[in-house]
Amino acid sequence: MMRAVRCQPTDAVPVWMMRQAGRYMQEYRDVRERVSFLELCKNPALSADVMLTAVKKLGVDAAIIFSDILLILEPMGLPLEFLPEGGPKIKKPIAKPEDVKNVVELESGDQLDYVMDAVRYTREGLDERIPLIGFTGAPFTLAAYAVEGGGSQNFRQVKAFMHLYPVEWQDLMRKLALSTARYLNGQIEAGAQIVQIFDSWAGCLSDEDYRKFVQPYTKMLIDLVIPGTPIIHFAPGNPVLLPSVRNAGGHVIGIDWRIPIDQAWEVIGTDLALQGNLDPAILLTNREVIRQHVQHILRLVERRPGFIFNLGHGIMPQTPVENAIAFVEAVHEFGRVR
Ligand code: CP3
Repeated sequence: MMRAVRCQPTDAVPVWMMRQAGRYMQEYRDVRERVSFLELCKNPALSADVMLTAVKKLGVDAAIIFSDILLILEPMGLPLEFLPEGGPKIKKPIAKPEDVKNVVELESGDQLDYVMDAVRYTREGLDERIPLIGFTGAPFTLAAYAVEGGGSQNFRQVKAFMHLYPVEWQDLMRKLALSTARYLNGQIEAGAQIVQIFDSWAGCLSDEDYRKFVQPYTKMLIDLVIPGTPIIHFAPGNPVLLPSVRNAGGHVIGIDWRIPIDQAWEVIGTDLALQGNLDPAILLTNREVIRQHVQHILRLVERRPGFIFNLGHGIMPQTPVENAIAFVEAVHEFGRVR
């Protein structure tokens, strides 16, 4: 994994899954019978245990800390809850341009010390050959939650906000870029060896709007990350954005299933590594279909250095766990260099 993120040749294709510890797994559901999602995130020993259990069960080549992109909003003055029916909710979303003044810029990751402890405990419990990935939401995706108050179909409020109030938008995005950079650097100091930036909702934008309202702040964040740490930049949903996502920065670009991996490489250039891009819905089928799709993607990759096998987005809660294991086994079997 550490060689692949640096685009160096490897003797096997590394694989892990976004949301690899989650509701599709019985062990996770058992923990969630006892504690709420937020309680779990704020209990570093338990969140480390949840991720270590998943890594062991799946046999993946990387671990990501068990946490959530939205937790940083709390110390920034935007408390949140996770509703039992599913889905996060920001209690008092940003409604007016003046509200941006009250958003707190974090000076360090200290107020999220439970995340730093989760990094330490997870690193301590992991096999030394398996790298630990820290993560943050990108400024835009966090701003989208802060303005919409939760998930959204069309992101009309955040889009209207950035066009109507460009000055306050800049202020908000700057605060988010600086805060997320300090948060990631705290995770790196605590032991994260790679970091991933999730810009999960950037795909709702046009390329022009992405370049104007988003890219400068993602770039600001990336430029502030401690040098030498590989950065995975994942902005799914709209392959049209890929050249601009690449230009915002990162050593590895996350690719969803909407574009074939060979085309993505043509757009991005072979000097960067790619991570992706099996449609998570394929894991709802069976071992045979999964194995065919893994082989197909590996054929398109043609053993180019710098490929990290993953899903194109998070694993779905309905996924049978044996299918997730079959996916990892198939990558290990067909991705080996003989
Ligand atoms: O990958 C991992 O296993 C690490 C943990 C992780 C979670 N969330 C755990 C989680 C990571 C990396 C995230 C990132 C995250 N969180 C993203 C970016 C990734 C993406 O999907 O694009 C986003 C958008 C969020 C926000 C979020 N958190 C939503 C929209 C939801 C509710 C939707 C859902 O699946 O229930 C969450 C909750 C959440 N985060 C769960 C988990 C395991 C489910 C909580 C539960 O009910 O137990």
